[in-house]
Amino acid sequence: MFELNKISFLLFLIFNTLFTFDGDAKSAGGETYDLIKPGFSFEGATGTFDRAQLRRGYQVYKEVCASCHSMKQLSFRNLSQKGGPEYTESDAKIFASEFFITDSFDDYGDPIERARVLSDRFPDPYESKEAAKASNNGAYPPDLSLIVKARSGGYNYIYSLLQGYGKEIPEGVEISDTLSYNPWFPGGGIAMYQPLYDESVEYEDGTYASIEQMSADVTAFLAWSAEPEMEERKRLGFIVMSFLFIFALLMFFTTNRLWRDVH
Ligand code: HEC
Repeated sequence: MFELNKISFLLFLIFNTLFTFDGDAKSAGGETYDLIKPGFSFEGATGTFDRAQLRRGYQVYKEVCASCHSMKQLSFRNLSQKGGPEYTESDAKIFASEFFITDSFDDYGDPIERARVLSDRFPDPYESKEAAKASNNGAYPPDLSLIVKARSGGYNYIYSLLQGYGKEIPEGVEISDTLSYNPWFPGGGIAMYQPLYDESVEYEDGTYASIEQMSADVTAFLAWSAEPEMEERKRLGFIVMSFLFIFALLMFFTTNRLWRDVH
């Protein structure tokens, strides 16, 4: 009986560790509205990203969000790396070459503009933080590379926020004219106007671009950018856990056998 208890305790420990590895367990902390949780493919201990969804998400970012938000942690080569949207390298090269950068000077000291290459970062829409604020009523559009990790509620918060426009302002809530009401944003008044409308983009894969669809796709893309190594981490985690499990069983039977005749 005692041994059985020990085994179940071990199993409990192992599975507990396995499942707390999952990034889903963030607290929603004090929201008045419940977060919308559509259930993404990358959730859970073995969930992976949906490549087609990441590609659609990149399209939404590029065509809508990139006019205000930078994603400084991403380089164009990330778009073709394993575990991400997995575009071919030549596609990623083409994406890079659509943007220019000035990072060197000719012999006369004049700046040279060149097309970006795979090792270049995503472009910044504004010259400076001040310029960004000046264009957005004094509010700074945060860099989106790590935003999923930086907000309580994680990707479900971003997903809800993007769909949180057009709702009636409840009585007693005052929203200034320069802000939009969004129940998921702390305080309810956000300086970002509604960014997505049905068919804001025309998806290359033919998917209908509803607000809901685009919100999900760009959220998945942001979840990937916040942790590009997620799939690898889960794969390794699984291997380590399987090893520990087998090792624990072996140790259990060995100990049992060794001590069998002692008492
Ligand atoms: C016209 C400019 C503009 C566009 C386009 C835009 N945003 Fe924003 N965004 C802002 C500004 C300004 C803020 C800061 C809001 C504030 O602090 O009140 C913001 C804030 C955010 C935040 C942070 C919210 C928080 O909790 O602090 C997220 C996430 C976000 N935007 C995502 C997106 C996504 C995804 C897109 C594309 C679908 C997008 N934005 C398009 C201007 C923009």
